[in-house]
Amino acid sequence: MSNMVFWRKFFKNIGMSNRVNTSDSISLSQDVLLMEHSGSKGDVDNIYLSTSKDVNLYELEQLCDAVGWVRRPLRKVKIAIDHSFVIICLFCKNKERRQLIGFARATSDTVFNATIWDVVVHPDFQGRGLGKALMDQLVFHLRGANISTITLFADPQVVSFYRNLGFITDPDGVKGMFWYPR
Ligand SMILES: CC(C)(COP(=O)(O)OP(=O)(O)OC[C@H]1O[C@@H](n2cnc3c(N)ncnc32)[C@H](O)[C@@H]1OP(=O)(O)O)[C@@H](O)C(=O)NCCC(=O)NCCS
Repeated sequence: MSNMVFWRKFFKNIGMSNRVNTSDSISLSQDVLLMEHSGSKGDVDNIYLSTSKDVNLYELEQLCDAVGWVRRPLRKVKIAIDHSFVIICLFCKNKERRQLIGFARATSDTVFNATIWDVVVHPDFQGRGLGKALMDQLVFHLRGANISTITLFADPQVVSFYRNLGFITDPDGVKGMFWYPR
């Protein structure tokens, strides 16, 4: 599907009434069809996008396991999700199941700044434009809330992934700084 067709379909599916533009966190009321995806056995899976915070934490843990991330306490992950401004989940749906295959979230002060966290696509679905779609969606929602400064912390191996999406390192020489308990 070309980019143009994808976005036309996306906006049609979302409908303007579903866009939330307040200081509340952002959520659409229903899953949105992103694209059709041919499975290995010739069957067709549909990839859906959801912004609901009702995330299955065990599924999210499995997704993070699949890319080798260190496990975090699910109780804390739930709090982090509940306090996020935007959540984007990607699901692969077929007749048998609805599998979480992508996730990303952003925290925000809701007016000036937002920071993107936990961007992940299941290895079986990487390299098909879904990581870009996740990021485009996050930025789209944040810009819809008029947020102008969007930051993230990139692992070294994905700096060029984010750079391709328009993110810049060290703008005007500004450095990210961290404080950790000793
Ligand atoms: C990073 C990640 C989200 C990318 O997802 P993806 O679905 O494979 O990415 P896409 O298919 O949408 O790729 C979009 C573009 O980025 C490029 N790209 C993908 N992964 C890349 C990487 N690691 N480094 C540089 N470029 C990358 C693709 O080649 C593609 O380029 P193109 O538009 O010129 O064709 C995915 O590889 C992932 O989940 N990795 C493990 C978790 C992780 O490291 N997350 C980031 C933490 S900061």
